[in-house]
This record gives sequence, C-alpha cells and structure tokens, in this order.
Amino acid sequence: MSIFGNLFKRNKLIHPADLSLVGTDMHSHLIPGIDDGSKNIRESYELIRRLMDLGYDNFVTSPHVMSDFYRNSSDTIRKGADQVRHYFDSKGIDLKLHAGAEYFCDEFFDQLIEKKDILTFGNNYVLFELPFMQAPSNLTTTMFNLQMAGYKPILAHPERYQYWHDQFDQYQSLCDKDIHLQVNINSFAGAYGPQVKKMAERLVDNNMVTFLGTDCHNHNHIDTMDISRRSPSLHKLIDSGLLLNKTL
Ligand SMILES: [Fe+2]
Repeated sequence: MSIFGNLFKRNKLIHPADLSLVGTDMHSHLIPGIDDGSKNIRESYELIRRLMDLGYDNFVTSPHVMSDFYRNSSDTIRKGADQVRHYFDSKGIDLKLHAGAEYFCDEFFDQLIEKKDILTFGNNYVLFELPFMQAPSNLTTTMFNLQMAGYKPILAHPERYQYWHDQFDQYQSLCDKDIHLQVNINSFAGAYGPQVKKMAERLVDNNMVTFLGTDCHNHNHIDTMDISRRSPSLHKLIDSGLLLNKTL
C-alpha cells in the first residue's frame, strides 16, 4: 500500500471525537447579519442545529466587535441573541445561547474596557482577538487593564498569529500572565494552513489550551469538523481534563 493509502487507513481508524464532552461552544458567529458569520435567521438555525447534532448543548456566540469593520454594541449583540432564541422557541426547541463577543484588540476595545461595557460569559471571561499581520502595540496594556478591571481574558485562536510561530516564549508568557488560550477546532484539520495546525498541536502538547471553539461562521466550518474530529490532538485535548468549556 502507498504511503497515502497508509495515512488514509490510519486516519480512518481514529474515531470522530464526541463533542458532547466539550459541551459548550464558546466561539462562534451565529447572530444573523451583524458580522461576517451567519447571514440570516434560517442559516443561524441550521448552523446551530448541526452543532447540536454534533453534541454541543450550550452556546456562547461571539460576534466581532471591531472599530473599523463591525462596530457592534453590547445592545445590538444582546438583541440579536434574543432574536435567535425566539426563533428556536417558535420551533419548540430549547436553546441555551448566551451573548458574548470577540473583541478586536484596538482603541475601541480599550474604551469599552474603561467604560466596563464588555460582554462576558462564565466566570467573567472575555474573548479577544489580535490582528493577523502583527501584534498590536496596546496588547500588554490592554491585557493588564482587562485583568485590573476584574475580567479574565481568553485569547482567541493564538495558533493563527503567524508572527509568533518562531517565538514560542510569547505563548508561554501569555500563560504566565493567566491569559487563557482558545484553539479553533478546525486548526487541527489544517484549515488555516499546516503551520497553524502544527502550532495548535504544540500548544496542546504543552498543556497550554484551556478553551476550544468552533469559530463557526458558515456551513463549511461545520463540514471541516468531520476532519478535525478525527485529529489525535483534538482527542488528546479533550482527554487532558484542562478544557473549561463545560464550566460555562
Ligand atoms: Fe471568531
């Protein structure tokens, strides 16, 4: 058998992870029409139903809040989550959906922290993301201010920040500062490239990952999870006992 045949055979032997063991998906874009995620209520419904079929039973959805592109307010996000909940109610389906956000680390975020106008979830957690080109100059101050204000920061998809791929100590330093790291499930499938996959696996190997998210924007993301769910690293992460998703 060829090397590819062997790889295929080996992968097929790994059973798809049971995502009910994760329980809560805490990173997604499931509110219709307010960011680059779900486009309408029907799509939100279908995406959430598919995620439920995979085992998730609780959702913190996290629309982008970004001064240049998505100036969503806490109010628009809460109202959007209400709309989705009502839609499920009308179908007679009980949906546990909490309104969170994915804050882009910009000056707008700094202003929101100062005003304490932040959508949190669980134990005062706040999900935030960084630019993909370079680390922002306000990063250290912003993380400090968040923690001083009593928030517990979770950094979204740290494996995707390629400017840190040859500086593993940056990840260690975040953990030392009690910044939680949230990996995207589809990073394990190589959906964002081989280097991102490698970093996601390295973070798992070093026991640095405490949250797992789908970062689901559309149906493609759920299709890709068929591959992600067979990743040995995903199994390792779920078995690690370090994930805090169930506490949400
Ligand atoms: Fe996201």
